[in-house]
Amino acid sequence: MKTLQNKVALITGAAAGMGLAIARLFAKEGAKLLLCDLDEERVRALQHSIESEGAEALAVRCDMAEAKEVEQLVQLCIDTFGSIDVLVNNAGIMDDFFPVDRVPPETWKKVIDVNLNGPFHTMRLVLPEMLSRKSGSIINIGSIGSHQGARAGAAYTASKHALLGLTQNTAFLYAKDGIRCNLIAPGGVNTEIGLKMKPDPLGYERIMPGAANMPRMGEATEIAQIALFLASEASSLVNGATITADAGWTAF
Ligand SMILES: NC(=O)c1ccc[n+]([C@@H]2O[C@H](COP(=O)([O-])OP(=O)(O)OC[C@H]3O[C@@H](n4cnc5c(N)ncnc54)[C@H](O)[C@@H]3O)[C@@H](O)[C@H]2O)c1
Repeated sequence: MKTLQNKVALITGAAAGMGLAIARLFAKEGAKLLLCDLDEERVRALQHSIESEGAEALAVRCDMAEAKEVEQLVQLCIDTFGSIDVLVNNAGIMDDFFPVDRVPPETWKKVIDVNLNGPFHTMRLVLPEMLSRKSGSIINIGSIGSHQGARAGAAYTASKHALLGLTQNTAFLYAKDGIRCNLIAPGGVNTEIGLKMKPDPLGYERIMPGAANMPRMGEATEIAQIALFLASEASSLVNGATITADAGWTAF
C-alpha cells in the first residue's frame, strides 16, 4: 500500500519549485490532488503529466491573495474528491529585501496577502471538513525566516513569523480533534522564487553577508520528502512542530 493511498491533498503554488516536487511525490504515493497556481498553463501541464502516470489530479488557476478565489478552490476540492486529508500551504513570494522604512505599502500588502492571508483562508475553510472526520494534516511552508530576523526583508519576515504563530495556535487548538498542523522551514532551496527579485540595495547589502555561512542549497525534492512525512501517519505524534531544512545553516 502506498503511503498516501486514497488521501486527498490540496497543494497551493504547485506549478513550480517545492509545490511541484510535493505534488509529484504525493501523486507517486497514491494521493488524489487538487493543484492550484497563478500560472494556469504550467499547473495544468503538471496535472496532465501526473495523470499520464496513472494518478488523479485536477489543476486550477487560483490567486492565493484573493479570498473569494480561495473559497472557490476549497469548495472545488470538496466537490471533486469529497474530502481534504492534507492541505499544503506552499504558495509564497519574496519581498525584494526591503527594510521597513523602504518597503512600498503595496509590496507589504501583497506579501502578507499571499504568504499569510492565503494560508489563513485555506485553513479556516478546510477545517470544518477535517473536523467532520476528526482527521487531517496541515503543512505550512514557512522559512528559516519564520524564526530568524533578517533572512529576507521586513514583509517576508513578518509574514513567515506570523505563519509560524498561526501554525502553532492551530496545532494546539485542534490537537484533540485528530488534526495536526506543522511548519517546514527551508533555508535556501533551488527554485524559481528569486528569479524575479529586484533587491533593494540597502536591504541586500545588510542581509547577504549572513548567507555566506550557508553550507549548501537544498533541492525541492528534499522538501517534498519532509512534506510526505508530515502528511503521513509516520508523523502521528508530530504537531505544532517546525522541521527546519537548511543543511545546518541556522545551527551556526
Ligand atoms: N526557495 C527558497 O529558498 C525558499 C526558502 C524558504 C521558504 N521558501 C518558501 O517555499 C514556498 C515555495 O516557494 P518556492 O521556492 O518553491 O517558489 P517558486 O517561485 O519556485 O514556486 C512558487 C509557486 O507559487 C506560485 N504562486 C506565487 N504567488 C501565487 C499566488 N498569489 N497564488 C497562487 N500561486 C502563487 C508561483 O506561480 C509558483 O508556481 C514559498 O512559501 C516560499 O516562501 C522558499
